[in-house]
Amino acid sequence: MHDLVIKGGLVRDGFSSRPFEIAIEGERIAAIGYGLSGRREIIADGKWVLPGAIDVHTHMSLPFAGAVSADDFATGSRAAAFGGVTTLIDFMSQQPGEGLRPGIERRLAEAAGATAIDYSIHALTRRFDHRVRADLDWAREQGITSIKVFTAYRRQGMMLEDDALYFLLEAARDAGFLVTVHAESGLIIEGLIDRLAEGGHLGVGHHPRSRPVFTEVEPVARVVTLAEAARAWLYVVHLSCGSALPALTAARTRGASVFAETCPQYLWLDESAFQRPDGHCFATCPPIRPRAEQEGLVAGIVDGSVATVATDHCPFTRAAKDGWGGDFRQIPMGMPGIETLLPLTLARLAPLGDGAIDAGIRALTINPARLFGLAPRKGTIAAGADADLVIFDPARVVRIAAGRLHMATDHSPYEGFEVRGWPITTIGRGQILVENGEWVGQPGGGRRLHRGPPERPVMPL
Ligand code: URP
Ligand code: ZN
Ligand code: ZN
Repeated sequence: MHDLVIKGGLVRDGFSSRPFEIAIEGERIAAIGYGLSGRREIIADGKWVLPGAIDVHTHMSLPFAGAVSADDFATGSRAAAFGGVTTLIDFMSQQPGEGLRPGIERRLAEAAGATAIDYSIHALTRRFDHRVRADLDWAREQGITSIKVFTAYRRQGMMLEDDALYFLLEAARDAGFLVTVHAESGLIIEGLIDRLAEGGHLGVGHHPRSRPVFTEVEPVARVVTLAEAARAWLYVVHLSCGSALPALTAARTRGASVFAETCPQYLWLDESAFQRPDGHCFATCPPIRPRAEQEGLVAGIVDGSVATVATDHCPFTRAAKDGWGGDFRQIPMGMPGIETLLPLTLARLAPLGDGAIDAGIRALTINPARLFGLAPRKGTIAAGADADLVIFDPARVVRIAAGRLHMATDHSPYEGFEVRGWPITTIGRGQILVENGEWVGQPGGGRRLHRGPPERPVMPL
């Protein structure tokens, strides 16, 4: 007799769809098969049973342009569970002059006891020097094996020059780290912003003009070149345009370990949103793009050249977004997304068939688990893995409304969108967190994860 058995559902792990039963003992999956019995049983007739989604890109309580992103670890992780996300990875912040350790310790203290799902953080650095190098080894001992850098935001003190980036890539290779990069051409973007400002072109419609597609294609090709030369692991975050994919794919076919993440906003939204009266609510960096770029990303998920889908969850309240004063430079950049990650990703891929849905499931589960050193414990449905499971109703049609979501913000970029398929029950390490759309979990029940080195995602390439 097991603690909990889920029966009647179609188990979809991104590789196959089978009507298995799943037995849970304590925090782990104990068995997968038929004729299993449990002290408690959940009947999932007509539903899919998925591995819990892993969101490797969130920004809880992030200060930006005078505002702070509205979700903290408590509210954001609870909303995550409503959306079928059972693991999140957020970022440390680094004060000028610091290495990695103080920021990691601060951020872990913030997350501890507050986060309802399992969690980790990425290291992050604005520069590369001996202190950052030494702290990589310390961070790895803490189970942190990824580090974020920027090729943009020079004026905010965030941008790494190419030499620092190259030497960081070498050090990360030696330390067993994945280097994650916000890849935009920082210097060109600053020049374009200044030129638009001089011409008085500060409406939000000019935001994408200040960061055109080539300002993402160029740095992606550049960081791929540097990572390939350094034989380092590279992961480009929030890729917004299909045009940037060929450089990654070509390098990977030569054996380089270079991968990309995209986000639902780049799969569902296009730059026509900036013409709306609330267009500033859609401002994020890189910007949402013309429709053709979206199609390239969708195709990339299906053929495996986009490895993961994550959110860049950075929700501001409507009041914070409205404080921009007609100047796109003053908008707190970012969007809410953690609760809608799973349903939006699968709904975008569903019209392309079951193979596309499977690719989407892999991009939300096994691929982030492997890249961020969480496999085989996370991202899979297998005996011995953590019992992170989602019961997903593929027939439920939901009209998205911010008022019915649980993120700490009062608007959604997807307001009024109708999607078919929604997570109804979420189990995190054997504990039911959300049952039939109702919260039944413990606040702060998430555990800090100890991550290993990156592993290649599952891809046709
Ligand atoms: O504009 C965005 N995406 N804000 C969040 C921080 C980042 O750059 O990912
Ligand atoms: Zn970014
Ligand atoms: Zn981000």
